[in-house]
Amino acid sequence: MTDLHLWLRHETRTTERRTPIVPSDARRLVASGVRITVEESPQRIFPVEAYEEAGCQVADPGSWVSASARAVIVGLKELPDAPAELTHRHIFFGHAYKGQPGAQALLRRFAAGGGALLDLEYLVDDQGRRLAAFGFWAGYLGAALAVLHHRGALRAPLVPTTKEEMEAELRASEGDLTALVIGALGRSGRGARTALDEAGVEPTCWDLPETRDLDRPALLAHDLMVNTVLTTSPVPPFLTDKDLDGPDRRLRTLSDVTVDVGSPMNVLPVYDTTTEWDHPVRRLREQPPLDLIAIDNLPSLLPREASTDFSAALLPQLLDFETSGAWGRCLDRFRRVSGELGLTER
Ligand SMILES: NC(=O)c1ccc[n+]([C@@H]2O[C@H](COP(=O)([O-])OP(=O)(O)OC[C@H]3O[C@@H](n4cnc5c(N)ncnc54)[C@H](O)[C@@H]3O)[C@@H](O)[C@H]2O)c1
Repeated sequence: MTDLHLWLRHETRTTERRTPIVPSDARRLVASGVRITVEESPQRIFPVEAYEEAGCQVADPGSWVSASARAVIVGLKELPDAPAELTHRHIFFGHAYKGQPGAQALLRRFAAGGGALLDLEYLVDDQGRRLAAFGFWAGYLGAALAVLHHRGALRAPLVPTTKEEMEAELRASEGDLTALVIGALGRSGRGARTALDEAGVEPTCWDLPETRDLDRPALLAHDLMVNTVLTTSPVPPFLTDKDLDGPDRRLRTLSDVTVDVGSPMNVLPVYDTTTEWDHPVRRLREQPPLDLIAIDNLPSLLPREASTDFSAALLPQLLDFETSGAWGRCLDRFRRVSGELGLTER
């Protein structure tokens, strides 16, 4: 029997329909003795009644601020700006350890309140591999949108959909094309290959060995490219402005799933702002045309599937919350980064 109390919060961002714990996994947690409170949320893809039926208690949106100090608050994306002092342990994607805008301010709120950030991006096994991630669906959507656009079948603005609908659109779209996936062996790469397969496209697949001595003419000889690499140290760019201006470019559609724009790790420094659901495609060159898709919240377009897979990966970690080494590593990381910034707990 555990005395763990998880508190699933409503997401602040109105377009965020995903959740890190789906009702069927909530049921398993409750069955193992975990107490779960779920905040009502108008946009969450699963209705609060499904959590209620799974044995969870229901609370008002944002009421986590007055939850008991022992409760562990669970979410995905940013917290609201208030309260200024964070007293609880929070599980979510804090985006606070790489000097991002707002990172110090968030960590300062934890320091002020004595709470802790257990950042999902840093929930890793003892080899440093991520235990729960949205990569597969990011890659799937990055490739799917690129193919649909290339075939003249992409409708904007983008709206959340289902795998069945997306698959039907891919199968119905027509037009020969050659495609390249870079980072093909990773989670997003696998998703990209799945979408391309559904579209009847057999892509060229590159990963680390194939880019060590990059064959740019071969890259530029594809109609469509999907970038899904995750680099942790700077590597020479895959494409530069000069490559885009060259006379032999066949490349017409570039989908950057990685979206490391502005970072020293960026392998595609050929654009400087992301594209959005309202306007998913931006023209980078006119003669011959080259179009970019660079959306940084792709999995939110398939909220049910992305939530279900993520929750399945997170479930064993939550069942093991009190004893797992992964959560200990998360806490160590939070303390180390806060310490390096001179932020000490109260
Ligand atoms: N756009 C979005 O909405 C969205 C959502 C989730 C993840 N992502 C991003 O997608 C990227 C990939 O995530 P993932 O979960 O698939 O990572 P991953 O670690 O599973 O896979 C990355 C792959 O890239 C390969 N790689 C690394 N450096 C390379 C290089 N120089 N050349 C060729 N291949 C290289 C690795 O070997 C690995 O196979 C990350 O940057 C992640 O932040 C984007």
